[in-house]
Parts: sequence; C-alpha cells; structure tokens
Amino acid sequence: MDFTLSEEQLMIQQAARDFARNELLPGVIERDDAQKFPFELVQKMGELGFMGMMVNEKYNGSGLDTLSYVLAMEELSKVDASASVMVSVNNSLVCWGLQTFGTEAQKAKYLSRLSTGEIIGAFCLSEPEAGSDATSQKTTAIDKGDHYILNGTKNWITNGGSAEVFLVIAQTHIEKGHKGINALIVEKGMEGFEVGPKENKLGIRGSDTHSLIFNDVKVPKENRIGEDGFGFKFAMKTLAGGRIGIAAQALGIAAGAYELALKYSKERKTFGTEIANHQAIAFKLADMHTKIQAARNLVYQAACEKDAGKDYTLSGAMAKLYASEVAMETTIEAVQIHGGNGFVKDYHVERLMRDAKITQIYEGTSEIQKIVISRSVLKD
Ligand code: CAA
Repeated sequence: MDFTLSEEQLMIQQAARDFARNELLPGVIERDDAQKFPFELVQKMGELGFMGMMVNEKYNGSGLDTLSYVLAMEELSKVDASASVMVSVNNSLVCWGLQTFGTEAQKAKYLSRLSTGEIIGAFCLSEPEAGSDATSQKTTAIDKGDHYILNGTKNWITNGGSAEVFLVIAQTHIEKGHKGINALIVEKGMEGFEVGPKENKLGIRGSDTHSLIFNDVKVPKENRIGEDGFGFKFAMKTLAGGRIGIAAQALGIAAGAYELALKYSKERKTFGTEIANHQAIAFKLADMHTKIQAARNLVYQAACEKDAGKDYTLSGAMAKLYASEVAMETTIEAVQIHGGNGFVKDYHVERLMRDAKITQIYEGTSEIQKIVISRSVLKD
C-alpha cells in the first residue's frame, strides 16, 4: 500500500501538530490533575475542523477522508489523549454514525452542530453488566406508538457530562435478542435523564466519563436511528470505524512518548556521556521506533481500506490491538529511559503511560479485538 501523503493531508497533520503544541500542551498537566477540560478548547478544535473531520460539508463538516482523521488524531494524542478521545468519540462514533445512518432531519438538527464543536456527542452502549458482552443490553426502550420510554443505566460514557447529544443503545424486543435492539438519540435535559457523578480515572483524566441514568425518558420515534431493531448493527458498524480512531490515538500516545524519550536520551548524561550512547538505551529506542512504525502502517492501512470502501472490520481490529499494545510497551519504556524524572509529572511520560492503558480497554478490549480477528481469520 502506498501511504504517500497528499499536500492537503500534510497540511492537516501540521495544523494538528501546531494546535497540540500551542494550545493543548500548556496546562495539560493541570487538566489531568484537576480532571477538567475547558469547553473553549473543544470549540477551538471545532473552529479548526477537528470535530467533524469526515462529515460532509453540507452538514458543516470538513469533508475529509479517514487518513486525514487518523493523522490529526495521532498528533493530538502525542500531547493530550484526553482531548483526542473527545475528538475520536465525536468524530467516529457520533458524527459518522449519524451521517451514515441518520435521517435528513436528524442530520440537520444534530449533525450540523456536532461537526463544528458547538456541541459534543456521546455514544452510550456500555452498561454495568454489558461491556464486552454488548448484546446483553438491560436498558429498555419500550415502544409506545409515537415514542419510546427509556429506562436503565449506562456506564463509563466518554463526554457524559459535557455532551448535548447521546446515542443510546437499548433493548425494545427482548424476545428477539440483539435483533430487537434500537439506537435512540437522546438530548441533554430530556425529562428523566440524569448524568451520574464523574469517574475518577487512572488516565485520560481531562476527559469526562460518567454513568447516565434514564428514568422513564420519553424519546420521540423520529429519534430512532435506522429501522426498528437496527440498534446493535448500528453499534457494531460504528465501533468498527471507532476502533481506527482509537488505534490512531494509541499510535499518537506511543509516538509522543518515544519523541520525549529520544530527546531526553540525547540530553541526559550518565557515566560521562549522553545516555543515548549506552546500548541499553539505544536498543530500547530501536525497538520503540520499529514497533511504532509497524503500528502506523496498520493504522494507515485500516484508514485507507475504509476510504476505499472496503470492509475494514479486520484491519481496524488489528490496528487497535497492535497499536494499543505498542502504546503500553512504549510508554513504559519511555518512563524507564527517563529514570526518576519519568516518575514525576513534569516530564509528561508518566501521564502518557497512564493514558495508554485505556486504549487496550475501550471500544473493545484487546481480547474482544482478538475475537473479531480470529473469527475473520477462521472464516476464510
Ligand atoms: N458490522 C456489522 N455487523 C456486525 C459486526 C460488524 N462489525 N459485528 C457483529 N455484527 C453483527 C453480527 O453479524 C450479528 O448479526 P446477525 O445475527 O444478524 O448475523 C450481530 O451483530 C451479533 O454479532 P455476534 O453474534 O458476533 O455477537 P457476539 O455476542 O458474539 O459479540 C462482539 C460480538 C464482537 C464480541 C461484540 O459484542 C463486541 O464488539 N463487544 C465489544 C463492545 C465494545 O466495543 N464496547 C465498547 C464500548 S463503546 C466505547 O468504548 C466508546 C467510548 O466511550 C470510548
């Protein structure tokens, strides 16, 4: 595959790099500490076109391809993975899901605002007892003619506290199993909809993760996405693309930690020379560089397959599985190279190490990716 980047793709990559350095780096440690992310930063990312990258210009999006999106995700994630998860969920789950499967009315009402960063969205599949086992939805959406009555609890919802629009997966026809599940658009402020307390997390602490409680929430039928019973397929198809975004996030975290370790190893001296001159350190850098490049190839391949209209379920799962492993390994080694300095916040690598862990968990754990990959391999 030829991954030569176009002029436009190089410009997007540079714009994301500049934004990360100039706007995200200042205050990133404090935001992690305080578990806060000012909404003005989301709006700034929206102004630069990062919140609706693959959305058609008709709905105020940037009209770009998936490769451009992963380039931006990598650059943002090098500096602030809390920012990039907000970007990823809004782009690949909420905006892509609405653009691909929503009605014209839903697109006009929600997508046009989500793609500019005026508002942000959340994707609500996980439940206290339905994480990996996603068909076991306990949240119910009972059909009442022209509306649904929604009851249940969702867990670990990214953007849970800041979102205005929530794509909620719920069971309507229990007897039909996953074929009875629907996806509904729920708005903040609907009666009976409550946002639970913010989770106190290991990593991506700037991003807000909440449980959501639905208590007899009346959702108009026009807010259903797709046909009756399409909700589980909607979630799976949307997550297949989401996994490319998270793979790009993992790649960025790894690359960010590597760049910091490389720089540090040329500055820090031990035994009378820069530590990069010790083979123990140089070999670590060699391993990191090789694995990051391999992860990048997988991520770009998945993005290019999506752009070419091919089935990207397998390549997206492989990219996420591998890039998230590389993110974890690389960030641990980056901390090791930094020694004692790696263990304190000012050098950024400890945060990247904490942030890396979630990429092996959300949008399908590594074990779920292996289910997807092995089923595909065995089918052939
Ligand atoms: N595209 C289209 N349809 C798909 C699909 C895909 N990629 N994957 C599965 N399906 C369909 C199947 O074809 C099947 O439909 P039919 O019966 O009509 O053929 C249906 O979905 C059920 O599939 P399975 O029988 O394979 O279901 P399963 O119970 O064995 O589970 C699974 C499959 C892949 C393990 C799935 O449950 C899964 O992906 N689990 C992980 C869920 C997940 O990623 N959660 C992340 C939460 S979201 C998040 O993290 C967002 C955030 O905030 C960051």
